[in-house]
Amino acid sequence: MATARNVAATPVTIVIFGGSGDLAHRKLVPALFELHREGYLAAGSAVVGFSRSVASDEAWRLAMKSAVEEFGRCKPSQNTGLWDEFASRLFIHRGDVAAPKSFTELGERMREIETQRGLPGNRLYYLAIPPSSIEPVIRNMGETALVAPSESSVWSRVIVEKPFGHDLGSARSLNELLSSVFRERQIFRIDHYLGKETTQNILVFRLGNGLFEPLWNRRYIDHVQITVAEAIGVEGRGKFFEETGILRDIVQNHALQLLCLVAMEPPVAFEPNAVRDEKVKVLRSIRPQTTEEILRDTVRGQYGPGAVGGVAVPGYRQEPNVDEASLRDTYAAWKLQIENWRWAGVPFYIRAGKRLPKRVTEIAITFKTPPIAFFRKFGVMRQEPNSLILRIQPDEGIALRFGAKQPGAAMKFDPVKMDFRYSEYFGAHAPDAYERLLLDAINGDSTLFMRRDEIEVAWEHVTAVLDTWRENPPLDMPNYEAGTWGPEAAVALMARDGRNWRRP
Ligand code: BG6
Repeated sequence: MATARNVAATPVTIVIFGGSGDLAHRKLVPALFELHREGYLAAGSAVVGFSRSVASDEAWRLAMKSAVEEFGRCKPSQNTGLWDEFASRLFIHRGDVAAPKSFTELGERMREIETQRGLPGNRLYYLAIPPSSIEPVIRNMGETALVAPSESSVWSRVIVEKPFGHDLGSARSLNELLSSVFRERQIFRIDHYLGKETTQNILVFRLGNGLFEPLWNRRYIDHVQITVAEAIGVEGRGKFFEETGILRDIVQNHALQLLCLVAMEPPVAFEPNAVRDEKVKVLRSIRPQTTEEILRDTVRGQYGPGAVGGVAVPGYRQEPNVDEASLRDTYAAWKLQIENWRWAGVPFYIRAGKRLPKRVTEIAITFKTPPIAFFRKFGVMRQEPNSLILRIQPDEGIALRFGAKQPGAAMKFDPVKMDFRYSEYFGAHAPDAYERLLLDAINGDSTLFMRRDEIEVAWEHVTAVLDTWRENPPLDMPNYEAGTWGPEAAVALMARDGRNWRRP
């Protein structure tokens, strides 16, 4: 996608709202350390954490050091000089997101830091905070002049983490709120799946090769399966999950973004609006479903107790902070039709779930079988369809399955596979998605971020499902055992069409 990695980053002050939160620990500061290590952070650039609880710069630097030690690729303990250099970029601002005074003080603190470090005043604000804090933060930023007007010589940008609303109405309100303070080009709505190397490779694979794109349509493709499976459960996030569910947590964003990249038309240019125009067209082409169709073409599930990787695990209802009669979805399957010239009649099946047998995200494209059973006289009545598997994670790679003749006198077929593995070919560990996305935001490249209309059209479809599900409560939850591939109804959804889910 965009070539931000070849571009020197501009000097910037990065403010992390939620400086002592989980995301800052696990992802943001480790990613920034990595950017520093690779020389992508311009001299002087500073990172200011906004937090209610951390007492001093020193305390935050120590907390971040252990966070990077635990979650980062490059360990501070083995690179002390490098860490010390990076740590000198870190500052904490203690404040309350609801208090305008904290924001006026933040402005003063940033000016001080910027003067000391010779920074021009470019600012990147990262909202790594729960939805309830977003509104006061945006309002206070607007009221305390923390945001440079978009025509000024320095820039201010904001990165907004998911969840981006919990339905269409709330996503629209959030967009309204953001646009009362920022212009659209200043807003970077993040979906970290777009920053994954293998996700970016979907377009390179399709559009950078002559072989595949001519086949990429309803004439040759039978159906597409998108799987986002996780072996983990809700990992102490019971309260969050009770309010969210897998459809909002994974399908509305990550899975639909993957679908967009697989299904979109080639953009007219490789630039933010051209790419996002095509993604929006895909979302707009998803055929709206009636209540009956939603009940027929979606499956919701919830895991009960079971075992994952041989270890016994509790059911969802036994997780902390989960209602013991909860009807929340931890699994969702959805059959969609994209009604345009390229895809009419080719179903897209999405499934996502927690506590499935393994962690795997992949896109499987199944091609049509040959028009005649050419080897019938040898008893081969039907050949396995060819399939192309784009493995997003883990074991990143691409596999092509096709039939081959078994050696010997008999005409027997075996499905074989050509397999490309990133790790074998490129060796080095891939950068984390947040590294790429932070750098793109610093460089002002929004290709891998979601535009307002994209979010809203995705929510239109998902909200229709959520409404139908709410009006028709499930009677069978929990309906899959932890460590299995989901509810029986999901198997039936495919079987009805004479197909099967792939076993990754
Ligand atoms: C997050 C979800 O967006 O993505 C989590 O909130 C999920 O529930 C995570 O576990 C998965 O991300 P990844 O990069 O590990 O596939």
